[in-house]
Amino acid sequence: MTWHPHLWHPFTQAATADPPLRVVSGQGPLLQLEDGRELIDAISSWWVTLHGHAEPTIAAAIAHQAATLEQVIFANFSHGPAEQLATRLAAHTGLERVFFSDNGSTAVEVALKIALQWWHNRNEPRQQLIAFSGAYHGDTVGAMAVGERSLFSRPFEPWLFAVARAPWPATWWGDEAIEAKEAAALERLEHLLATPTAAVILEPLVQGAGGMAMVRPTFLQQVQTLVRQAGALLIADEVMTGFGRCGSLFSSQRAGLRPDLMAFSKGLTGGFLPMGVTMASAELFAGFLGSDPRLTLFHGHSFTANPLGCAAAVASLDLLEARTERYSTFEDRHRPQLERLARHRQVRHPRLLGTIAAMDLVVDQPGYFNPAGRQVQRYCLEQGVFLRPLGNVIYLLPPLSLDDRQLQRCYDAIEAALDQLP
Ligand SMILES: Cc1ncc(COP(=O)(O)O)c(C=O)c1O
Repeated sequence: MTWHPHLWHPFTQAATADPPLRVVSGQGPLLQLEDGRELIDAISSWWVTLHGHAEPTIAAAIAHQAATLEQVIFANFSHGPAEQLATRLAAHTGLERVFFSDNGSTAVEVALKIALQWWHNRNEPRQQLIAFSGAYHGDTVGAMAVGERSLFSRPFEPWLFAVARAPWPATWWGDEAIEAKEAAALERLEHLLATPTAAVILEPLVQGAGGMAMVRPTFLQQVQTLVRQAGALLIADEVMTGFGRCGSLFSSQRAGLRPDLMAFSKGLTGGFLPMGVTMASAELFAGFLGSDPRLTLFHGHSFTANPLGCAAAVASLDLLEARTERYSTFEDRHRPQLERLARHRQVRHPRLLGTIAAMDLVVDQPGYFNPAGRQVQRYCLEQGVFLRPLGNVIYLLPPLSLDDRQLQRCYDAIEAALDQLP
């Protein structure tokens, strides 16, 4: 294991991190390493690999599309794969318009720009954006601004625009303080919404990078009521939660939300190709129409609606629609295993949502830089299971093709790792 002299890896301190593992192929939930080892990809390669690695029907759809039309400027042209995908996404979400971009961060940026410009186009500009504590919406500057401020964003702090923030009442099994936490959060949100607000952005049901922090659907429904009463727009960042991750096709559906804007990426193409989309309601789209060119959404990316990405996304949706039980029953497969681990002396705050199971390690100083998670990660790697804990938060977020035996192996590896901790 060595560092390549010309690569710069994401979220990696090359001076102290272990060198990256060289991977040669992937199949279903498994990664094949150059040194002959096989690993279970228990976090779906940063939450993107939806069905499994090298899923044959998606690979075939991309190959077919590549030999037909690989890319075309989307300002002047349209094409079948984009139209098919947009029609399918509109039917599933109830949001009529699809704007394409390249990744999760850009999908969020576009949602923010649509929201702000929509108010501007109405001659009613609204300055305030509201986000939640602990949120993560991406690494581009606008997405970073709505995310929680942290060590990651500190060098850029002077350039990040102001965002009002409400508490996120994260919960877990046996949480007795949840009612009080939710009441405090709603009170704060209501107070913030007294100022005219363009939009409220949230990750429906679970904040991913914020530590797999889960909230109750009823809380989000109350948030939605307050947002509606204030006349603000609701943005659901489903970059991580979309496409079955949380037990329903979209997490907003399970939460009982009807957002005005939704951001998707990661699982959108089954995890094969980088692509983002922002879904917008018919009412928002209408706010950009007119003979005055200033009403136009002047935003676009070179690879907007890349046909390969669209073809992959259509093939991925086919699979999801044909096998809904794969995501709708995953929670039941996790539950008995998580119940077992929840009794371990090192575990607190077990929580479960769809394909995502999470827990905190009992440590003195929780947080992203707590080293306990890294110890668990190293041990699990030796057992053939790849995890990437968020500080002291250990979680599983596997591809849908993970079988019961492989799921058991993940839990066994974590349990054995926890036994090793002091
Ligand atoms: C909820 C959420 N929004 C946005 C992003 C940013 O997506 P990307 O890394 O594709 O830019 C992420 C990435 O983890 C995410 O979890």
